[in-house]
Amino acid sequence: MTPLLRADRLGSELGIDNLYIKNDSVNPTFSFKDRPAGVAVSKSLEFGLSAVGCASTGNLSSATAAHAARAGLPCYVFAPSDIEMAKIAQALSYGARYTPIKGTYDDANRIAAYVGDSKGYGIVNINMRSYYVEGSKTLAFEVAEQLGWRVPDHLVVPVGSGAMLNAICKGFEELQQASLLGDVSQMSVEAAQARGCAEVTPVERPDTVAKSLAIGDPGDGRYVLKRLAQYGGSADDATDQEIMDAILLLARTEGVFTEPAGGVSVAALRKMAESGRIDSGDTVVCYITGNGLKSIEPLMRVLPRPQAVEADLGKIAAVIK
Ligand SMILES: Cc1ncc(COP(=O)(O)O)c(C=O)c1O
Repeated sequence: MTPLLRADRLGSELGIDNLYIKNDSVNPTFSFKDRPAGVAVSKSLEFGLSAVGCASTGNLSSATAAHAARAGLPCYVFAPSDIEMAKIAQALSYGARYTPIKGTYDDANRIAAYVGDSKGYGIVNINMRSYYVEGSKTLAFEVAEQLGWRVPDHLVVPVGSGAMLNAICKGFEELQQASLLGDVSQMSVEAAQARGCAEVTPVERPDTVAKSLAIGDPGDGRYVLKRLAQYGGSADDATDQEIMDAILLLARTEGVFTEPAGGVSVAALRKMAESGRIDSGDTVVCYITGNGLKSIEPLMRVLPRPQAVEADLGKIAAVIK
């Protein structure tokens, strides 16, 4: 389990009384992708496949590579060539055979689909996708249990392909079917998107600082629209500036350092609160799905560079006022 944190300081800045952060940035490879990759790699092993792989916007490459290392399987990663250095270093360290593609995630996805089918490899988010999404359901199971088996009023979920949002809805519905939760239909589900790829209709060149959400042709986009209609939810998008502001707001108020995908969640949460869609007393759960240490490049462009000072108490005294 990852922590469900009560976020009173962020809540008071945004005017939300009962706010919780599901901090999935502290998983073994530091994003929620350990959940789907863990299940899909285990299934690949069970089927006796000789290798696994993925098409990735970054986080899935680390998760698949780590779980493949534990399973003793080779791992083939295809990802756009412009993703963050930390994510590439992480996947390479786990031994991934990493091929950067000169193109978008959607180009990488086509290559991975071809390699998986022609070689018989388990591509976790393509030919193993039905197992992959089962892993993400645990994001619902844990939140329900951590809330004491209560149905939250609002969920805020970042979307790239949309698979996670669908899986979370499915998870809550399965708990209701098992009589572990009451009526989940009163919950509202909010999709948090990055401007530059906030479309279901394909965008050729997604352009956002949230590289992990930069998917031009979202595989589960139409299902997300169905879910939003089913749960009376809506979608908000966030500009790069709003994403960076939201990362810093979350870090300053709650001590949780997230990558841009989490900034998208908090930026969408802020828009929900400002537009009056959250009633006082509502319980809100905001999913933070990736760790800030994976994506420091954009932050280093906006944060002040601390100046080095000589190790002299007089000089230090002038700086520490
Ligand atoms: C940190 C993070 N959050 C959210 C998402 C979106 O997940 P999905 O593509 O299932 O919508 C991703 C996808 O890569 C991600 O890496």
